[in-house]
Amino acid sequence: MELVQKPLLRAFSGEAVWPPPFWLMRQAGRYLPEYRQLRAQAGDFIALCTSPALAAEVTLQPLRRYGMDGAILFSDILMLPWALGQSLRYAEGEGPLLEPIRDAEGFARLDPGAVANRIAPILETVTRVRSGLEQEAPKAALIGFAGSPFTVACYMVEGRGGGEFAHARRMAYSDPALFGRIIRLLVDSTIEYLLAQADAGAEALMLFDSWAGLLSPSQFRRWSIDPTAAIVRGIRKVRPDIPLIGFPRLAGPLLPEYAARTGVGTVAMDTGMDPRWAAANVPEGITLQGNLDPQAVVAGGDAMEAEARSILAAMRGRPFVFNLGHGIVPPTPPEHVAALARVIRMG
Ligand code: CP3
Repeated sequence: MELVQKPLLRAFSGEAVWPPPFWLMRQAGRYLPEYRQLRAQAGDFIALCTSPALAAEVTLQPLRRYGMDGAILFSDILMLPWALGQSLRYAEGEGPLLEPIRDAEGFARLDPGAVANRIAPILETVTRVRSGLEQEAPKAALIGFAGSPFTVACYMVEGRGGGEFAHARRMAYSDPALFGRIIRLLVDSTIEYLLAQADAGAEALMLFDSWAGLLSPSQFRRWSIDPTAAIVRGIRKVRPDIPLIGFPRLAGPLLPEYAARTGVGTVAMDTGMDPRWAAANVPEGITLQGNLDPQAVVAGGDAMEAEARSILAAMRGRPFVFNLGHGIVPPTPPEHVAALARVIRMG
């Protein structure tokens, strides 16, 4: 039973492994010189995400430096709208730009039939990373991922990030039928996409709901919890045991309800979540993940180490995976990540 011995999978399955396994959101990326070099070689970001050899290499880069317990597929949550045929580009300094969907005609231009072909290179990356891990880091587990329907719909409707997604959130109230069609299409295609990642070799699957915290409580239940629960059911029918991680960022006091009702086995805490409160309020059997402030890793030194230790103290004895509260940021000095890894390994 080789799989069961991987510390990350044991922790995701509810075991209190100590010292806790760790990985970092956005662990592959612009803070690493070897990433920047490869990114320059690939040209644009979508080309990098759809070049299996390069994307697999980038996925493995942080593990070579820091020996994380998990590798997260190098891709992006917006590759799914791209696979559905929505135009997408990543503009330097601006982040992702999409052709916004604001009405039924825009929605009708999406083409679910295109998904299988367009995701094929991403699935090949998954397979390559999995065999790369077997060679280089046999105890590390491969995490596949997608965005949660609400967060992906935010970008699809708004056409860009950088704001508060006013058009998307307004559409959810003013035209819930159309917004609901977008969400349902994303539920179905996300199930297909994540199951395909599992078939290609992903050992755990994470759903990023980065903007869930913008929703009112009733809208959060409708557009974050319910669609996530539908995805979990769809995956569980085919893969009853694969670990599923949910990240409803800025869910605040709704985190326990999200944990109880979506069916995910692991809940990721954002930077503002008090780990002691989460430990007391999230059902016992659910693994927690998180939640060091990415800015603490930019700062490094004693302040970073003290923060990391206080999270470890709050989580001791409970199924836990150490991570950040949001993605690692480009100005992070690589040696601070190495120092963080040493602190985590001491438990
Ligand atoms: O975690 C990893 O290392 C794996 C790869 C990964 C990326 N994006 C690579 C990426 C993952 C898991 C994501 C998820 C993602 N993408 C989220 C959810 C998590 C979060 O951060 O809230 C969101 C909201 C996106 C959308 C997105 N992609 C934005 C807003 C941007 C631009 C801003 C930024 O952070 O760079 C991206 C681009 C992106 N995705 C880059 C990377 C490495 C930078 C592209 C580049 O190299 O120019």
